[in-house]
Amino acid sequence: MGKYRLSRKRKKFDLFRAESINFKNPLFKAIIMAVFNLTINRKNYKVDVDPQMPLLWVIRDFAGLTGTKYGCGIAQCGACTVHYGEDAVRSCSLPVSSVGDKAITTIEGLSEKGDHPLQLAWDETDVPQCGYCQAGQIMNAAALLKKNPHPSDEDIDEAMSGNICRCCTYKRIRKAIKRAAEKAGGRS
Ligand code: FES
Ligand code: FES
Repeated sequence: MGKYRLSRKRKKFDLFRAESINFKNPLFKAIIMAVFNLTINRKNYKVDVDPQMPLLWVIRDFAGLTGTKYGCGIAQCGACTVHYGEDAVRSCSLPVSSVGDKAITTIEGLSEKGDHPLQLAWDETDVPQCGYCQAGQIMNAAALLKKNPHPSDEDIDEAMSGNICRCCTYKRIRKAIKRAAEKAGGRS
């Protein structure tokens, strides 16, 4: 019996590893599933999943929106940042069952044409290097500008300090945020 329990736990853990998710796997039937209605980028999604599934997997594997990245999986790097209502949140650590009816916005939904002031400023400032962290950086910066349309360097450093960039693009990120604030003229 002990062996059986261990094996079920192991299988459940494996199912949530990004590289091993297979939603047709019959093992999913052994897990308690529930239906959730989500609004992601102004579109409605109905998903039948384990309530503990992180929002990140729903976004990437059910909605097919792969702009949001998996970095650490423990709310430490910011690669998975999306908007939950007006707030920037770490989708790797937000169970789908706690989302409720607040709208989710990912990098794909920040602007329909990709012309959000931050996206334009990012482009003009040539911010990305490998690019992996950048969707999370932009989403966090967008939440900052909504709350503080004219942030100082200190405001930016404080707000962005939890978003890690292994390529160290921090100076260009700060510059691009200031540029975006100017472009938006306080409208972002
Ligand atoms: S993947 Fe979510 S914070 Fe690192
Ligand atoms: S651009 Fe490479 S991790 Fe940030």
